[in-house]
Amino acid sequence: MLGAAERDAELRAAEAAAETAVGDAVVPFHGEHQAGIETPPQTHALFIALDLRPELDADGVRRMLRVLSDDAARLTRGEPALADTEPELAGSPARLTATFGFGPGLVARTGRTAGTPEWLRPLPAFGIDRLRPEWCDGELLLQLGSDDPVTLAHAARMLLKDSRSFATVRWSQRGFRRAAGAEAAGSTMRNLFGQLDGTVNPRPGDADFDRLVWCREGWLAGGTGFVLRRIAMDLDEWDRVDRPGREQSVGRRLDTGAPLTGEREHDEPDFEATTAAGFPVIGEFSHLRRARSDDPRERIFRRGYNYDEAPLGASVSDAGLLFASYQADVDRQFVPLQRRLDELDLLNRWTTPIGSAVFALPPGCDEGGYVGETLV
Ligand code: HEM
Repeated sequence: MLGAAERDAELRAAEAAAETAVGDAVVPFHGEHQAGIETPPQTHALFIALDLRPELDADGVRRMLRVLSDDAARLTRGEPALADTEPELAGSPARLTATFGFGPGLVARTGRTAGTPEWLRPLPAFGIDRLRPEWCDGELLLQLGSDDPVTLAHAARMLLKDSRSFATVRWSQRGFRRAAGAEAAGSTMRNLFGQLDGTVNPRPGDADFDRLVWCREGWLAGGTGFVLRRIAMDLDEWDRVDRPGREQSVGRRLDTGAPLTGEREHDEPDFEATTAAGFPVIGEFSHLRRARSDDPRERIFRRGYNYDEAPLGASVSDAGLLFASYQADVDRQFVPLQRRLDELDLLNRWTTPIGSAVFALPPGCDEGGYVGETLV
């Protein structure tokens, strides 16, 4: 029999273990693929695009990638970076990942054209776009994710300090999802329209995930193509829409996320079903109908984040989605989808793409190696 004091001690130990479970969790940096893609999305994300300094040559790019990979390997293990000025901030990685991406400018700097995919360029213009240059393009992408915002801030600072002599910041975009533990693991995220967002999405481990996401050729084999769209969501206009209108815009229910023809989130939608008046239950104009191509190759892996910046003046929100999409071939998978949505999608009434960037995320590396070693 345990005495009261021992029971108390056991309870406190269990509580302490539970309290730090989030902070102590580590996602391995090294491996065939870079971490931060298959990794279940962390609560906080920071996407930073850098421009290389004009004098940087291929050798400089190599040095930069070595330093940054070394920093990332240490920080993601929960260890301080070399010459870390705040080593105490490194101890709780909270599933920290650092994922690197290359824009066309970085690849050009290495002089390496063989094996570089044609899609590595800005997306074609779409009619719905209202792009602002301050949210577009870039030469090196740092995609950071963690369940802890202090860890994220520290990792970003260390990586930026070490990239300072090689590159300057072009833009940075911060996003969030529900806090770790707030919902059952594996729950679909809600965006700021209140919709379940991410229901139909290839899952790591699915038979076709690898084919849809990972590139197979050249220096990018084992890597992927990445598109980041900053999409403003007009919450004030959305407020004017009633619940049936909101549900019809996507073709799914707001509470369960079920298709309008079903009951549960993962039920298959029935696009043939009609109302008593003969109209399709899931409209031809709905986001669900328009985002689903008849060609199964035209699929993407979505891993988006909400953003919500401080509003100014009379507006009460500056919110939207950091639409992050991973696919082996941007031209064949992402572009046709975005074209369909550009032509018709009821959601376009309330959503506006204001930023756009394309990067190649190279494969991962082994211990002692660095991300980008297949290129430079
Ligand atoms: C702010 C903008 C957007 C919002 C609020 C939004 C919201 C949603 C919602 C609520 C769903 C249904 C649930 C689900 O399966 O995830 C959905 C599905 C989907 N969305 Fe979006 N979306 C946006 C932009 C985009 C863009 C830009 C693309 C691609 C270019 C896209 C591609 C898809 C795809 C592929 C699906 C799954 C369709 C299927 O069921 O087969 N979405 N989106």
